[in-house]
Amino acid sequence: MTTFKQSENYDYSEYLIPHGSLNGVAIPGFVTPEFRAEFQKDFKLRPESDIFIVTYPKSGTTWMQNILRKMLFTEDTQEWAEMPLTERFPWVDYIPSLSVTDLEKVPNPRVFKCHNHSPQEMDDQIFKGNRKAKIVYVVRDPRDACVSLYHHLQKAGISDWMKKANFTDFFKTYFRDGKTVFYGLWEDHVNNWLSSRDEYDILVVKYEDLIEDSCKEISRVADFIGCDLTPEAVRGIAEKTSFANIKVQNLFKEDGHDGVHDSFLRKGVVGDWKNHFVDMADEEMMRKIADDLYKKHQI
Ligand code: A3P
Repeated sequence: MTTFKQSENYDYSEYLIPHGSLNGVAIPGFVTPEFRAEFQKDFKLRPESDIFIVTYPKSGTTWMQNILRKMLFTEDTQEWAEMPLTERFPWVDYIPSLSVTDLEKVPNPRVFKCHNHSPQEMDDQIFKGNRKAKIVYVVRDPRDACVSLYHHLQKAGISDWMKKANFTDFFKTYFRDGKTVFYGLWEDHVNNWLSSRDEYDILVVKYEDLIEDSCKEISRVADFIGCDLTPEAVRGIAEKTSFANIKVQNLFKEDGHDGVHDSFLRKGVVGDWKNHFVDMADEEMMRKIADDLYKKHQI
């Protein structure tokens, strides 16, 4: 069996899906404590201009990256414009082709992708007490995020268990196991970030709202990051970053995502969970967890 272990310095397990564990939270095997330490040591935050897209996995990260690309990087030279998303929007946990010090060369504003479990973890690694940087937190119905993650990990063929797991097994055994699922339980992730809105500069965007009224949500994002856009420009961004338009651009083709690239642009709809949940008690439980959390945080 292929080992995904990349470090001697984290708890590593191949139970269900290979994962390391940092701060008690499961992370993909390629996310190492060494890289986090390097980031902590060498990364120089630009609090006035850096922007962080933070999400629970499969909640619309790629969509927000594309929106911000069209909003902020319209003046990019050909080299930067053709850069794969993974380089133009470096992931603070894993940057395949750049070093942390290379991030110094990225012009303002820099935009990063993050899945970290809590703002406290990011504070330790990145913010170091300076909480001015802007954070766009995208949240998605956990039932659909779970479906999306299921297809993503199956495409990746990440373990023998995953190759054989049906959706119900995946939900019950993996997605609901806080020690095993990447970046922890959905509700803990969402609660950690939404509870910190007074301490950090966070805009919360719901995937479902983006689907329902993309222009309205894109305008909220533009206001938040101080980008003055005409209604026509907002409409242009919505159009250019729509699922159909992005899908034909095949944005990951040069990215080395190979078999999994399609899963970043799979269906792009609300409610695909209806085609997957067989045990309705699971679906109801997840819906109630989300409803209670959204009510608690008034989103
Ligand atoms: P599905 O698997 O349900 O289709 P992430 O980027 O956080 O990994 O999330 C991936 C999910 O966002 C996938 O969901 C993908 O299809 C969806 N997505 C990506 N771009 C989108 C867009 N422009 N419009 C709607 N959904 C999009």
